[in-house]
Amino acid sequence: MRWLLPFVVAVFVAAFEVSVPDKQLMAIRGHPAVLGCKFTPDPDISNLVVTWQRQEDSKVVHSFYYQMDQLDRQSPEYNSRTMLFKSELSKGNASLQLTAISQKDKGGYMCIVSNAQGTGRASVELTYGALYSEPRLSIHVNSSKVTVKFETEGFPKPDVSWHGEQGENLIHHLELFEQTEDGLYIIKSSYEAQKPTVNVTFTLKNQFLNQNLERPVILTYDKDVATNQVTVALIVISLMCIMFFICIILLMFRRFKKQRFVPGMNHHSGL
Ligand SMILES: *[C@@H]1O[C@H](CO)[C@@H](O)[C@H](O)[C@H]1NC(C)=O
Ligand SMILES: *[C@@H]1O[C@H](CO)[C@@H](O)[C@H](O)[C@H]1NC(C)=O
Repeated sequence: MRWLLPFVVAVFVAAFEVSVPDKQLMAIRGHPAVLGCKFTPDPDISNLVVTWQRQEDSKVVHSFYYQMDQLDRQSPEYNSRTMLFKSELSKGNASLQLTAISQKDKGGYMCIVSNAQGTGRASVELTYGALYSEPRLSIHVNSSKVTVKFETEGFPKPDVSWHGEQGENLIHHLELFEQTEDGLYIIKSSYEAQKPTVNVTFTLKNQFLNQNLERPVILTYDKDVATNQVTVALIVISLMCIMFFICIILLMFRRFKKQRFVPGMNHHSGL
C-alpha cells in the first residue's frame, strides 16, 4: 500500500492543468480582446484564485479570489478595462476580456490559476495592430501635371501600391512617419499623373489585420475647359487683328494728310 501513495499523488498533481487556446493573439487598437485561458474545473469556486499578470513587469492585470474581483490589487493602467466571465469560472474558463486596446498592451500575459485541485499557469502573447483610417484624398493640379495624394494612419507598416487602368504597377512616392505617442504610422502616398485623364487605384494592405483598402481616382477634364481656351485664343487674335487694322488706318491717314498738305505748300510757294 505504501508504494501506491506517491503514484496517486503524482496522478493527482498532473491532473490539474492550465492552458491557453491561442498562444498568439492579435489585438486591434480600440477594440476589446479576449485572452483565452482554461483550467481543470472545480464546481466549487470558493478556493479559486485567478491572477492575470504581465510577463514583462509582473504587473497585476486582474485578480480574483474570495469569489470576487480584487480591484485594489490591479495595476492602475488596467482600471475598468478588464473582466472575467464569472459564469464560466466554475466550468474551468478564466478567459480575460481587455477593452480599449492600445500599443502599450502589446506583450506577454500570464494566466495563473489555483483551486482545490492544484495550481498552474500558461501564457499568451498579445500582438498589436491598428486598422488604417479612411484615406484622405487631395489633388494638386498645375499646368502640366496632376498630383493625387492619400493620407492615412494605422499599424504596422502596410503594403502600398498604385495601379493604372490595365492593373499595371505605377511608380509613386511614399512617406512614412512614426507617431510615437499612440503607436501609429502616418502614411502619405502620392502619384504624379500627366493630363488630360487620370484613372488610377490606390491600394493599401495591412496584412496583419487582413485589411485591404482600394480607392480608385478618376479625373477627366471637361471639354468646356478646352472650348474656353479656344475662345480666349479667338478673342486675343481678334483684338490683335483690330489693333493691326487700326495701325494701318492710322498710317494711311497720316500718309493721306501729308499728301494733301504737300500740294497745298506747292500752290502757296507758286504764288
Ligand atoms: C470562455 O468564455 C468566453 C466568454 O463566454 C468565451 O468567449 C470563450 O470561448 C470561453 N473559452 C473556453 C475555452 O471555453
Ligand atoms: C478606368 O479604368 C478602369 C479599368 O481599370 C475602366 O473599367 C474604367 O472604365 C476607366 N474609367 C475611365 C473614366 O476611363
